Amino acid sequence: MTNLKAAQRVERISTSPSAIASQRARELRAEGHDILALSAGEPDFQTPPHVIEAAHKAMLGGQTKYTTISGTPELKAAIQEKFRRENGLDYANDEIMVSTGAKQVIFNAIMAMVEKGDEVIVPAPYWISYEQIVQLANGTTKIVRCGPEAGFKLSAEALKKSITPDTRLLMLNTPSNPSGAVYTAEDLKELADVLRKHPNVWILTDDIYERIVFDGRKAATIAAVAPDLKDRTLIVNGVSKAYAMTGFRIGYAAGPSELLSQMLKVQSQSTSGPSSVGQAAAVAALAGPQDFVENCRKAYQERRDLIVSMLNQTTGLTCQTPEGAFYAFPDCSGLMGTTTPEGKKIENDRDLVMHFMDDHGVALVHGAAYGLSPNFRVSFAASMEVLEEAGRRIQTAANALVKT
Ligand SMILES: Cc1ncc(COP(=O)(O)O)c(C=O)c1O
Repeated sequence: MTNLKAAQRVERISTSPSAIASQRARELRAEGHDILALSAGEPDFQTPPHVIEAAHKAMLGGQTKYTTISGTPELKAAIQEKFRRENGLDYANDEIMVSTGAKQVIFNAIMAMVEKGDEVIVPAPYWISYEQIVQLANGTTKIVRCGPEAGFKLSAEALKKSITPDTRLLMLNTPSNPSGAVYTAEDLKELADVLRKHPNVWILTDDIYERIVFDGRKAATIAAVAPDLKDRTLIVNGVSKAYAMTGFRIGYAAGPSELLSQMLKVQSQSTSGPSSVGQAAAVAALAGPQDFVENCRKAYQERRDLIVSMLNQTTGLTCQTPEGAFYAFPDCSGLMGTTTPEGKKIENDRDLVMHFMDDHGVALVHGAAYGLSPNFRVSFAASMEVLEEAGRRIQTAANALVKT
C-alpha cells in the first residue's frame, strides 16, 4: 500500500464496464473456459489491406515523426472531402481537427466547454464515456431517460423540458451505442426547432456509426438538417468503426474554429496530436475504395437479424430491432427477481450478465452501465456461428431461471 491520495476528479470516475467485461472474458478464456465475448465495441473484421499497406508505406517513407497538432494536411483534406461527399457539408481547414480516436475528440470538446455549474444533456441509454468525461470536467450530466417506448430517442418535448439556464451542451449519438437507434432527418429537425430557441446550448453529435445503418436508411446529422445550427455544432466521427481501425486511434472533429482552437490547446498539452502512421492509414481509408464499408454493413445486418430474432424467442426478453451500429439492447425485466439453478438471486441486470458470463460463458454488458435498466448490450460484431451459439446459451440460461 502506498499513501497515494487520488484527485477527486478521478475518484468520481471508473474504468469502462465494457472494457472490464472484455478483460474478464479474456481472463476466463486464459483459465481454459469456453467464453463467447459479445462485450467489446469493435468490428471483428480485419482492417482492409490497402489501409495497412498505406501505413507500411508511410513508415518506410519517413512518416514516423510528430505531425501538425491538428492533423496532417492530407488527412484534413480527405476529411473535408468526406463531409462534402457524404454529408453535403463544407468545412474550412481550421474547422477540422484530428485526434487520437473519437474518444479524444469528445474529451477535448468537454474539457474546452464544460466546467463546474454547467449542465450537459445526455439521453439515456448513452455511451458510458459521455457521462464519465463530463464528470471528469466537473460538469453535471442531465440524464434524460429515452426508453424503448420512445424508440430510445430524445423527443423534442423531452429536450424542451430538460433545458435550464445552466445547459451548456446537448450530446447526441446517432446511430446509438448501445441501442442502435437512428435519428431521422425529421427527428433532428424537431430537436433543432427547440434548440433554435436556446442559442446558448451547443450540440455535440457523435456520428461514429453513421456508415452502419440498416434496411435502406441513411444517417442524418443535425448540422446538415439545420444549417443555421452549424455554428454551434461539433460533429465527432472517426475511422474506428467504419473501417475496422480501432487500434489505429484516429478520430476527427468538424465544427466552429473558435471551439476547435480551444480543443487544440487541450490536445497540444495531452497527446501533441494523433499518430503519424494512423493518420496515413486514415487517408487511405477515407479517400480509397469504399466497398469494404458496404460489405461490413451487409454482414452486420444479417447478424442483427439472427441475434434479434433469437433474443426475442428467449423467455423474459424483448428486443427492439436496432436501426444501425452493431449492438442490440434487449429489455430483461421478465428475468428480474428469478433465481439461478445454482441458487443465485437475479436482482438486476448486472446479476444477470454475471450469470450469463460465469455459468454460460457469454460476455455481455449490463444496461445500468449505459444508464438504462433492466437491459443488457449484445455486440453483434461477431461471426454468425458465434452469435448463434451465444443466442442458444442465452436461451438455455433464461429458460433455467426459476421464478420465485
Ligand atoms: C458512441 C461511440 N463514440 C465514440 C467511440 C470511440 O471511438 P474511438 O475508438 O475512435 O475513440 C465509441 C467506441 O466504442 C463509441 O461507441
